Amino acid sequence: MEDFVLVAKVGDIEPGKGKSFEVGDRVIAIFNEDGVYRAIDDMCPHMGASLATGFLEQSEVSCPWHGWRFDIRDGSWCDNRTLKTDVFEIRIDGDQILVSSAPVIKAKDQLDANKESESGGGCENCQSTKDTDDE
Ligand code: FES
Repeated sequence: MEDFVLVAKVGDIEPGKGKSFEVGDRVIAIFNEDGVYRAIDDMCPHMGASLATGFLEQSEVSCPWHGWRFDIRDGSWCDNRTLKTDVFEIRIDGDQILVSSAPVIKAKDQLDANKESESGGGCENCQSTKDTDDE
């Protein structure tokens, strides 16, 4: 059973925005998308920017440094699903926002699963294709 940590109150995170919170030894980005809260690892796996400060649109957050996009619903990198970031569970209790202290989707587990299925591709919202030449 996961432990949940109180991080904020409903209304502390503006709609369409994210905010980062320290939870144990991690920093978690929590997003408010039209009243639906989602949480992923705040640290961009590219070079470590805070994803909470990125631009959020249609369940995708764009990293503020180099524009990598992540689906905040499942943590997938929109240009290549084999790269993931951790996803955390959110619970709303009255006006309190709680987040699981451990990820419910672990990036490493997803990477292993993708290697087995070799599904590849992008998230359902992404229109771009894999392009790693400029990274
Ligand atoms: S640090 Fe996020 S895309 Fe480079």
